[in-house]
Amino acid sequence: MQSPSNPAALVKIVNKTKSVTIEDGPKGLCLRVDTQHSTLLLSLFGGHVLSYINKADNNERLWLSKHAVFDGKTPIRGGIPICWPWFSNHHLEPSFPSHGFVRTQMFDLIDISETLSGQNVVQSQLTLSPKQLDLFGYKNIQMKLIIEISSTLNINIISMNNSNEIMPITQALHSYFRIENIASTLLKGVETDYDDKPSITFGLKAPIYYTFDGEVDRIHKHDHNNFSQPQSIEISSTATCPEHEQITTIKIRQCGHDSTVVWNPWKEKSISMKDMENEGYATMLCIEAANTQNAELPLQLAPNQIHKLSQQIY
Ligand code: BG6
Repeated sequence: MQSPSNPAALVKIVNKTKSVTIEDGPKGLCLRVDTQHSTLLLSLFGGHVLSYINKADNNERLWLSKHAVFDGKTPIRGGIPICWPWFSNHHLEPSFPSHGFVRTQMFDLIDISETLSGQNVVQSQLTLSPKQLDLFGYKNIQMKLIIEISSTLNINIISMNNSNEIMPITQALHSYFRIENIASTLLKGVETDYDDKPSITFGLKAPIYYTFDGEVDRIHKHDHNNFSQPQSIEISSTATCPEHEQITTIKIRQCGHDSTVVWNPWKEKSISMKDMENEGYATMLCIEAANTQNAELPLQLAPNQIHKLSQQIY
């Protein structure tokens, strides 16, 4: 595992807090955050949230592959990968790594701030930034991750164009949600037309009753009104075991995106992926807040423009 260039700064920031501790174990260098309302585990490799448990019900919201690789080089399968400054293939250079260059590098912890109620931390806010941003021809572009951990998890990618030129970026908060069973899952709030990657078909109608019985890899256009229109989404799934039949619901609210990606690789692809257990597809669903090339007008950052992409998980 790569080590941070400034471990002393990391310890200094963390030691001033009540809710954050450093862990260096099988998942590499991580921060564990424990607030009154929730716990979170974040890998500094990729600025990658691995776990978010809301204490209201003690349910894990995120899916993490049992075969995820934590070698400090391979993108981590599960949690919330940060895809930036491009989503999927690079629009000009298909040979560049898929989903950008920050999910495979260490992040620096820049700041932690806590909100207290008496002795209890009710919210922790972490600010992180990737170590290196001048890669693959990108220059004068900055990004920060701001993560608020409380009765919800609110994760934000802030992108800043510090150059004198217009800069196209695509990106995603590529969240893997933990569900009971994909076959009994109902998705609500994703209603706009989509482009379908497996069949290379464009402009398909979203299902009215959105359920799953095979691979899905879809980019739904989001009607965003200059990136200001939030979207509320709900994933409900039912536990398969009849004697404990229970519906689990995850609520999501996202903003700053022009696309919502819905991805489940289904069985054959799960089997072909080394870092995913064969049945892994059955308990995960990716709902990604994204800016993509498929948008009507893909995001172009003007000089000095700042853009915020956010996803809030309840
Ligand atoms: C999704 C893409 O966002 O990510 C899929 O739409 C892709 O096409 C999936 O397979 C996983 O990507 P990766 O690079 O993490 O295997």
